[in-house]
Amino acid sequence: KRVAVLMGGWSAEREVSLSSGRGCAEALREKGYDVVEIDPPRDPAALAGLLTPKPDVVFNALHGRGGEDGHIQALLNLMGISYTHSGLLASAVAMDKPMAKTVFAAAGLPVVEGRVASREEILAETVMPAPYVVKPANEGSSVGVIIVREGQNHVLAAEQLKDEMLVERFIPGREITVAVMGDKALGVIEIVSRGTWYDYEAKYAVGGSTHICPAQLPPATYAEAERIAVTAHQALGCRGVSRADLRYDDTGTDTGAGPGKLYLLEVNTQPGMTPTSLVPDAARAAGISYADLCAWMVESATC
Ligand code: DAL
Ligand code: MG
Repeated sequence: KRVAVLMGGWSAEREVSLSSGRGCAEALREKGYDVVEIDPPRDPAALAGLLTPKPDVVFNALHGRGGEDGHIQALLNLMGISYTHSGLLASAVAMDKPMAKTVFAAAGLPVVEGRVASREEILAETVMPAPYVVKPANEGSSVGVIIVREGQNHVLAAEQLKDEMLVERFIPGREITVAVMGDKALGVIEIVSRGTWYDYEAKYAVGGSTHICPAQLPPATYAEAERIAVTAHQALGCRGVSRADLRYDDTGTDTGAGPGKLYLLEVNTQPGMTPTSLVPDAARAAGISYADLCAWMVESATC
C-alpha cells in the first residue's frame, strides 16, 4: 500500500507532529508500506497537488489546528482518500473543548465545572475562586494553559490570554489517561510529572514525566476510567485511536471522605505518537508494538 504520512503543518504543535510523523513513517516502512512524508501546506490546492496521484491511505500524524480539527479531514473526504483516526465531525467537536464538554455531559460523563469567559472577565478574576485553570478552547499539548493557584492574585497578563478562553475549576489529585483503539480501552496510565504539572516540557522532554502503566488505582476506579474513555470516544463518534485525559481526585480518600472521583478533561483525536507519548506506551503494555499499532491504524483507515 502507498501511505502518505501527513506531519508538521502549521499549528502550535508542529514540532510534536514532526516527531510523531517521523516515528510512524519509519515504523510503516519497517512493515513494508511504501511511505511518503508530506508536510502539508495551508493552501488546499497545493496540498491536493501533493496528494496526486492519490495514496491508498493518508496516515494523519498532525496535531492541533488544521490537522486535528476537521479541516484536513474535510479535504480528504472531498478527495475520496481514506485516512487514519477520526473523521470531520468528531475531529471538529473534540478540538473545541467547550463543545466537546456539552457532548460529554449529554452522555452522562463527569466533566469539570467551568465556562467560557472573556479576557476582561478573566483579568478581573470574577469567573470563579482560585484554584482554577485557564485554557484555550482549541489547543493541544498544554499550549497556552495557565493554572491559577489559591492565594495567587493578578498573575495573569492580558497578552497571555485570547479573547475568550475556557475557565475550569482546578481538580486536585492525579493525572490519568486512557487510550482507546477501535472501541476498546488499552488500559489506564498514570502520569507523574517531574515539574509541578504535566505541561509541554513534562510531556516532551526526555525524563519530563513517568508513565505508570498500568496505573495503580482501585479496581473499580480503573474500570470506570476505561468506561469513561470508551463512552467519550463513542459519544463523539471517534474512529481508530483516541486518548481520553482525566483527573482522579483521590485527595479525600485517606480521610474517609469517599472513594475519589474521576473527571473527564478531554478526548484527543490525534494523540501523540512521539517517543515520550502515552498511546505507544499503552499499546506496548497491551502487547501491541509501536509498528503493529501504526499498521493497525493504516488497515482500519476509512473515508
Ligand atoms: N496533543 C498531543 C499531541 C496529544 O494529545 O498527545
Ligand atoms: Mg489535547
